Amino acid sequence: MKALEQKILNEGTVLGGDILKVGSFLNQQIDVAFLMEMGEEIDKIYKNAGVTKILTIEASGIAVAVAAAAVMKVNVVFAKKNKTSNVSGEVYSANVHSFTHGTDYLVTVPKDYIDANDKILIIDDFLANGKALEGLIDIVEQAGAEVAGCTCAIEKGFQGGGDKLRKKGYKVESLAVIEKMSPGNIEFRK
Ligand code: G4P
Repeated sequence: MKALEQKILNEGTVLGGDILKVGSFLNQQIDVAFLMEMGEEIDKIYKNAGVTKILTIEASGIAVAVAAAAVMKVNVVFAKKNKTSNVSGEVYSANVHSFTHGTDYLVTVPKDYIDANDKILIIDDFLANGKALEGLIDIVEQAGAEVAGCTCAIEKGFQGGGDKLRKKGYKVESLAVIEKMSPGNIEFRK
């Protein structure tokens, strides 16, 4: 999505540790008009895919998921992050390791909200090492539902998470894929 690439170039800041700061429009302040443009772009990708629901993860994934859901006219389910492994049998759960934060957490979704008839589009804001998406895919498959695909607003291609999932056969279409970045320089995948 060219407009997102331009927005990242205009407003993004590359920090140390391979972190791209986009607080001005995605992670802290939300540019709602632009968010809705991203939603429309996601709808174009999945228009004929028979998506019944969008699954995302708290917190920042929710905004992108809601924008797509508003256009696609489906509901959003968001996974919650839990610190403890003490969960009930009423939820699907998966363990996720965050390289960015150096911690593990458990993601949970109530069994009531996804079932075997669902075709699920998974959405998040950032795709880095892909562990959050792997956890969400695991939950969809526990429910016996189908993964229609995974779309993140910004994929850091150099961290390899998206390509690993593509190799496994999942459709992964991010709106902008960063191939290389360093302070003052951001290059996108062609
Ligand atoms: P992974 O799922 O792809 O393996 O990534 P990882 O666990 O390492 O990412 C952890 C968190 O950091 C996620 O948000 C992710 O969205 C965010 N993140 C990863 N790389 C960047 C980046 O370059 N810039 C920004 N701004 N965020 C990044 P989270 O901690 O779960 O937080 P939130 O969704 O509650 O905001």
